[in-house]
Amino acid sequence: MLAFTSPKPGCYAKELKMRTVDLIFRKRQGEELSPEEVVFLVNGFTRGEIPDYQMSAFLMAVCWQGMTEREVSALTDCMLESGEVIDLSGVQGVKVDKHSTGGVGDKTSLIAAPIAAAAGVVVPMISGRGLGHTGGTLDKLEAIPGFRTSLSIGEFHAQLQQLGLAFIGQSAEVTPADGKLYSLRDATATVESIALIASSIMSKKLAVGLDALVLDVKVGSGAFMKKQIDARRLAQLMVGIGRRANKRVQALITDMNQPLGYAVGNALEIMEVSQTLQNAGPVDLTRLSLELAARMIHLGRAADSIEEAREVAQTRLLDGSGYKKLKEVITAQGGNAQVLDRFELLPNATGMREVYSPRSGYVSAVDAELIGRASQMIGAGRDLKDDAIDPAVGVILEVKVGQKVESGGVLCRIYYTGEDRVEDAAEQVEDAFRISQQAPEERELILEVVG
Ligand code: URA
Repeated sequence: MLAFTSPKPGCYAKELKMRTVDLIFRKRQGEELSPEEVVFLVNGFTRGEIPDYQMSAFLMAVCWQGMTEREVSALTDCMLESGEVIDLSGVQGVKVDKHSTGGVGDKTSLIAAPIAAAAGVVVPMISGRGLGHTGGTLDKLEAIPGFRTSLSIGEFHAQLQQLGLAFIGQSAEVTPADGKLYSLRDATATVESIALIASSIMSKKLAVGLDALVLDVKVGSGAFMKKQIDARRLAQLMVGIGRRANKRVQALITDMNQPLGYAVGNALEIMEVSQTLQNAGPVDLTRLSLELAARMIHLGRAADSIEEAREVAQTRLLDGSGYKKLKEVITAQGGNAQVLDRFELLPNATGMREVYSPRSGYVSAVDAELIGRASQMIGAGRDLKDDAIDPAVGVILEVKVGQKVESGGVLCRIYYTGEDRVEDAAEQVEDAFRISQQAPEERELILEVVG
């Protein structure tokens, strides 16, 4: 039995005696836990007093039974308070962050953030690593030789003051509870829970002293939320948590049935970020990145209306100032900014395998989850929490939904460095493509705005 003391004086200032196994049992039965009980579990786990196997069982119970808003609030608060809350009041300007719930080929953070920063918004971006079949902004950034995501709080503060944009990850100082839980969820098939996703994202975001937040809640085959109704619930939950903390929060619900852009895999995505910031990127990626940037600019009070903010975002893309901003940030964080012009300086795959279309027709679906899994299989993502990832590998689509393809035409290319799982990955990719005789109906990319 563990003695429980609250993480911060006054938070849940009670001394309680509890047994982890009883709390797991009660959650498994669908009971609501009290805030003190939630705090007991999270703090015990973060301090290493509750072992992985018990926390895994608890997370699985949450996946099946869900959590009430009161439980999610308590979970978010104590994850937030497991580390430091960074005080950015000394940095001039409105601080706005952006976060995605996770997708395949989703590199919008690396495009929207520099555009918003170039428009005068301060962007203290705290990002995550790849989770399951989805990619993570930190992994993408670390594909850039030398890039450091582990800035100290002092360095983060100074860079924001100087450049208006810095990228960090959750760390031992910032939301350590999320770091531990995030890895465990990834390895125990407990990612897809509205309560766990909401608390993970919002605890990290509230830890960086922001004024406003733009959320991109993904829905579809490549997202954790497969149904729009669940995506809406997740969006509403996160917007509510943010508002209760006095932050301006808006969420877009966006389609993730096919990968965003053409590139999936860390270094490959950095190349597509560079092309997009030079206004030569894929239409869907450019469109969503500009809309997210515009929402950041509007919430950041750098434009009076969303229409004006869209114009500002467009200008910052076209005049190259977003691109320049990303280069400055890469240099400031120890990376080689030349990679944005000279792709050969990025980690490169050693082999390439093409996947061909079995018939002529229109591409009617490209299952984003299967493409994400194929990419994960050859090393772009992790199977186990401590796995290293291979920054060079991934998949580049040649065609997307709505495009015509001839029999034997290339559907996509798999870039790899080791041959062992390439054929399995190719099979997944083949299954991901649907070719039909009729052109599919066009699907909306941005489905809803919440908040
Ligand atoms: N992004 C996060 O930061 N956490 C999640 O749980 C999912 C996506």
